[in-house]
Amino acid sequence: DPETTPEGFLTLLHPEDRGPVGQAINRAIIDGVPYESEFRVPHRDGSIRWIRGIGKVVFDEQGKPLRMIGINQDITGQKNSDVQLRQSHRQIRALAGRLINAQETERRRISRELHDDLNQRVATLALAISRLKRKLTAQPEIMADLNALYDQTNDLSDDIRQLSHQLHPVALEHLGLAGALQGYISEFEKETGIPTSFSARIRRDKIPFEISVCLYRIALEALRNIARHSQAKSAAVVLEEDDQVLQMSVVDSGIGFEVETGRRGSGLGLLSAQERVNLLQGTFDVVSTPTKGTKLTATIPLR
Ligand SMILES: Nc1ncnc2c1ncn2[C@@H]1O[C@H](COP(=O)(O)OP(=O)(O)O)[C@@H](O)[C@H]1O
Ligand SMILES: [Mg+2]
Repeated sequence: DPETTPEGFLTLLHPEDRGPVGQAINRAIIDGVPYESEFRVPHRDGSIRWIRGIGKVVFDEQGKPLRMIGINQDITGQKNSDVQLRQSHRQIRALAGRLINAQETERRRISRELHDDLNQRVATLALAISRLKRKLTAQPEIMADLNALYDQTNDLSDDIRQLSHQLHPVALEHLGLAGALQGYISEFEKETGIPTSFSARIRRDKIPFEISVCLYRIALEALRNIARHSQAKSAAVVLEEDDQVLQMSVVDSGIGFEVETGRRGSGLGLLSAQERVNLLQGTFDVVSTPTKGTKLTATIPLR
């Protein structure tokens, strides 16, 4: 019966597992530590069972190993569900990444459509109105209406341009990450009345666009969260380049929140920030202390 000696027992195992299990048995014999291992046992029908063994070596009075006692438990079901779980986790990750890229592509398309097509047509409309105004200078009531129409058309054009820029931040391409953030933060302060400081220490002048977009979107989300949830009196955004990484933190002095609960909630903000950072092999940290405030840190390798 091969199971009565360690060598015989090992021949029953999957060849790749013989080494590690043999070592575990040796440690139990030589060091007297408990034996523990997981291994595969191929069956005659070609199927493979996963077994988890625990036990110990029994020694005689002279300290000579007599035999091993313990139990072997079939853990095949658990192993298979572990593998499946890891696989679906990978699939979800990949899906999240594709969704973020698709969202960015779609935003760019709509942004271009708004800017190049819709806005052109509104501009043409404004021109037609101003031509009419020139023809109708002698009719004061019509003039007033036309002036109002002209102003509305210009406002419409401004709104379309602004929407287009929010969807696809051209400022990022023109001003770079620091410039675009500075611009957004000035707007944010005006709109919310929350004083927000900004500092950027970046050495290189060209940051890859996908990194800029990632950090820009995260900063916008973090600032929106500050305005919506934090009740903070002040905030700060810090952008730093350091040892081949670009790091951005967004800090507020607000009410803080329970991070695990916040991440598990129905919101998409923190979740998509995490996924954006994952796409670039970076890390995303949220530290929040109730009544003290919140700090988000995104770190992206520059390569
Ligand atoms: N700066 C912050 N201060 C306080 N609470 C915050 C802050 N940022 C996020 N939270 C909490 O975390 C939750 C999740 O945020 P998020 O994922 O952006 O979703 P949403 O903003 O849509 O609720 C928020 O609902 C809020 O409770
Ligand atoms: Mg949010």
